[in-house]
Amino acid sequence: MNTMTASSTDIAMIAPQARVKSDNITIRRTKFKSLDLNKQYTKSALMSHLLTALSASFPQGEHFFVETVRNVREQISDPQLQADISAFIGQESMHARAHDQFNEQIQSNTYHLKKFDALFAQEMIRLRTLSPRRQLAATVALEHFTAMIAGYLLKHPRLIQQLPENMASLWIWHAVEEIEHKHVAFDVYQSIFANLAQRRRSMRTITIGFLTSNAMMTGHLLWQDRKHSLGNIKQLWLNVRDLGLLTHMVLSLLPEYLAFYREGFHPAQIDQTRLLTHWRRDLMVRALVEDGNLAVSA
Ligand SMILES: [Fe+2]
Ligand SMILES: [Fe+2]
Repeated sequence: MNTMTASSTDIAMIAPQARVKSDNITIRRTKFKSLDLNKQYTKSALMSHLLTALSASFPQGEHFFVETVRNVREQISDPQLQADISAFIGQESMHARAHDQFNEQIQSNTYHLKKFDALFAQEMIRLRTLSPRRQLAATVALEHFTAMIAGYLLKHPRLIQQLPENMASLWIWHAVEEIEHKHVAFDVYQSIFANLAQRRRSMRTITIGFLTSNAMMTGHLLWQDRKHSLGNIKQLWLNVRDLGLLTHMVLSLLPEYLAFYREGFHPAQIDQTRLLTHWRRDLMVRALVEDGNLAVSA
């Protein structure tokens, strides 16, 4: 189990600029509520297993993101960026914890996520042998992936709308915060290394690793659940339909993906201000409803 919190080193690091706060990055309390969960929580088994595979990768992945930024943060003198780093660490720590809770809950005797943990742990050991520049470049590339997927989920909420309430809150919350902090690792990398060739190289490697590992984990989970996932015509049809949705996602994100390779690219060039305004409001309403301060008519 991996959980992270902002350490005393992080706090000490920002002490001289204690009055500087991140303008745009808010650390919200976790929105995942532990309720009874079925391993299929979307219409198609394919989509449920894909989201679960992504969730399985988050605790260790986000721990790694934080580490790669912490490795070099003492070289950052800009107080605003230091404040953003602290907020980034706070958000990623909460994400890791929430997805850890989800992973623990959905795991069962017939649905194994734990074997992925061992594989990720091995991969993390390998990544930690790389130079701080390469480690951070890997984080920058992965953060671009998470921001792209987050943007797609919020812009096309078809998928979110079919999730149970607690799962919808988890994914909306995570997506909003991924967009809020999408520039942080990038700005740290540019401030210290600004190496374009490495950034491009790492994106190529991460693309292959990210796509193949998620495809393999999803395939593995589908196979574990094959009696239900692949055993009847209706499920097969829903899986094919959601394969179409995934193809749409890949095609529509292609321009944002390719933009990353441009020399003058910056995450802020992808304007998601209106999207954020809408979904931040949605999160606030969800929080009020959960606290019982707002009645919602059916
Ligand atoms: Fe995250
Ligand atoms: Fe992130």
